[in-house]
Amino acid sequence: MLIPYGYTLRKAREEDIDGVINVNSVALPEHYTHSFYTSIFSTNPDTFLVIEYNGRVVAYHMGRIEYGFSFKTKPQIVKKGHIISIAVLEEHRRKGLATALLQRAIEEFKKHGCETSFLEVRVSNDPAISMYKKLGYHVAQRIRGYYNDGEDAYVMEIDLKNKNGDRHNN
Ligand SMILES: CC(C)(COP(=O)(O)OP(=O)(O)OC[C@H]1O[C@@H](n2cnc3c(N)ncnc32)[C@H](O)[C@@H]1OP(=O)(O)O)[C@@H](O)C(=O)NCCC(=O)NCCS
Repeated sequence: MLIPYGYTLRKAREEDIDGVINVNSVALPEHYTHSFYTSIFSTNPDTFLVIEYNGRVVAYHMGRIEYGFSFKTKPQIVKKGHIISIAVLEEHRRKGLATALLQRAIEEFKKHGCETSFLEVRVSNDPAISMYKKLGYHVAQRIRGYYNDGEDAYVMEIDLKNKNGDRHNN
């Protein structure tokens, strides 16, 4: 996915973390401690991505590679790419920025040998659900009362391997 002129998608640098926290604080009700961001940054640098515009972070994706049950192939343990958090500042939305971040993250998950990628999303978050579906994620599970305010989450998952067992090239 091409992003509009003036925007740069790249891996995050340590000095971007305050900018990421700023985007998160205005875009999402789920916030994390500074040390959580720095720990994901140091352990999963390839999937901690930002988009910069005029020298400012306007969008980010924070992902983590984990091992766990596939929602499809239980009880097998597989390597999975977890989308922990993604957000775009309101004035920069509907320009394909989140799609570009997710496509890059999926590419990185595949390079790291992940068999699936998954995320949790509020059941009321129609824009995000529609975006994930467009990218090929499907609802695998519903978790009752997952969020602090009691809202349920959908777990959405995408298989990153094709029928022959090879990972897609996209
Ligand atoms: C969800 C979010 C990340 C999308 O970012 P974005 O850069 O605007 O997304 P894109 O431009 O790549 O849009 C991709 C697709 O998502 C869907 N989408 C995005 N925003 C939408 C909206 N407001 N209403 C309906 N569909 C929407 C559309 O299918 C869109 O494709 P289209 O523009 O060709 O119709 C952004 O709205 C956001 O930051 N929201 C708050 C944080 C959040 O909810 N994060 C996800 C938590 S799980």
